[in-house]
Amino acid sequence: MIHPRAADIEPVPGSAREDWPATNSPHSGRAPSNPAGRAGAPPANSGRGNGWFVVRDATSADNDELIALAAACAMAGDMSLRIDRGPDFFALNRLEGERWQVGVAVADEKVVGCVAASERKAFVNGVEMRTGYAGDLKVHPLYRDTAIADALSHYAERAFAVLPPAAPVIITVLAGNRPMERRLSGPRGVPPFRKIATIRTHSIPILRPRRDRTGNGVRIDAAKWSDVGQMVKLWRKVAPQRQLAPAFTAKSLSAWIGAAPGLDISDYRIARSTAGEMLGFLAVWDQRSFKQLVVFGYSPRMKLVRTAFNAIATMLGAERLPRSGAPLSCVSAAHVCVPSHRPEVLRSLILSAYNDFVGAGCSFMNVGLDTRDPLTAGLVGLLAQPTDVNAYAVTGRRGVAPELLDSRPMHYEIALV
Ligand SMILES: CC(C)(COP(=O)(O)OP(=O)(O)OC[C@H]1O[C@@H](n2cnc3c(N)ncnc32)[C@H](O)[C@@H]1OP(=O)(O)O)[C@@H](O)C(=O)NCCC(=O)NCCS
Repeated sequence: MIHPRAADIEPVPGSAREDWPATNSPHSGRAPSNPAGRAGAPPANSGRGNGWFVVRDATSADNDELIALAAACAMAGDMSLRIDRGPDFFALNRLEGERWQVGVAVADEKVVGCVAASERKAFVNGVEMRTGYAGDLKVHPLYRDTAIADALSHYAERAFAVLPPAAPVIITVLAGNRPMERRLSGPRGVPPFRKIATIRTHSIPILRPRRDRTGNGVRIDAAKWSDVGQMVKLWRKVAPQRQLAPAFTAKSLSAWIGAAPGLDISDYRIARSTAGEMLGFLAVWDQRSFKQLVVFGYSPRMKLVRTAFNAIATMLGAERLPRSGAPLSCVSAAHVCVPSHRPEVLRSLILSAYNDFVGAGCSFMNVGLDTRDPLTAGLVGLLAQPTDVNAYAVTGRRGVAPELLDSRPMHYEIALV
């Protein structure tokens, strides 16, 4: 058990959290009665009294333990995945918003839990405002069913206290994640949430080249830095029509791209009409330099899908789905910027990127869209496998209800999960 002194705590380099509230506090609550017993090892924490863990701001020194924690918190599902956040756990958090902070729970001198809180300017009902995002809530399996997850939720709650009370604070939860879904009603005084949208990740298998039959005469080119001004002009037309799309300026988008590992301006594709008008754009992001997905199991249904997929992939010389224990190669669409009434433009953008990845060692291209998003029509026939993530907003802070979101489809960057 450690009780870090304030002097021990150094903010993570690059974190703009100086004006965010820091939280370094010992906690009591219920200690795990026999945490390691579940894993067949001797109890690690038995006999601990009050204050058996602390929650504090993360420091760069926590990087390796956070990477190990993320790997220990695997996601079970049709395709069970372990996320390797090496070499830099904080690389994703840095991109979450203009301000961000990570809190860690420390017990037995190890990082056994974490949570991230970030703030970004985004469009809500068409108006730019400050919004909050909580993510990366993880508790090591040996330390679950204790007060740690609650303490981390309160850490995030305190981090958001600097936001105006009506600012929406959002979390996303993989559909079917029961331990997390149980927390959404706000048990034991943790903040309660209400569902606002379902984001569907469409995983498009990359097999054979596909022809663009949209017949819309759209031309697709790789973006250049000189395009950013025009891209942002289009973004600021499209983003207000989508809930929670970040409010970029040319400067902030350029800075974001510059800071995103594995992403270059040339990874953005721009669709233009024959007259040269910019109609839409998106980025296709290979995140393997800082986030690797390792498969550790397939459900019986997915085993069948894999057998069929690999038979076809072998015939076509495409990337096969990996065996258990091996990494999954995929890329994700980011910053999808296409007006809702132009799904065929999205299709042309996706097909252009798809064809570039045929034979490039990638199994899937992931595209995340709100299930209500009319752009989904652009994905018809691409054999996409769906995975749903539900988005929730805190029901109220400091006695004030958050801005109620109207029915515009939500914008969500699946690549930032
Ligand atoms: C999601 C996650 C953080 C939840 O933590 P957890 O320890 O499993 O679950 P909870 O803290 O909600 O607690 C479970 C049980 O512990 C007990 N408990 C929790 N806090 C307690 C407290 N303060 N006092 C007494 N008992 C407590 C309760 O029995 C509770 O069950 P109940 O709410 O049904 O009554 C954890 O399962 C995890 O890390 N999962 C993997 C990563 C993940 O999916 N993260 C979510 C991303 S959105």
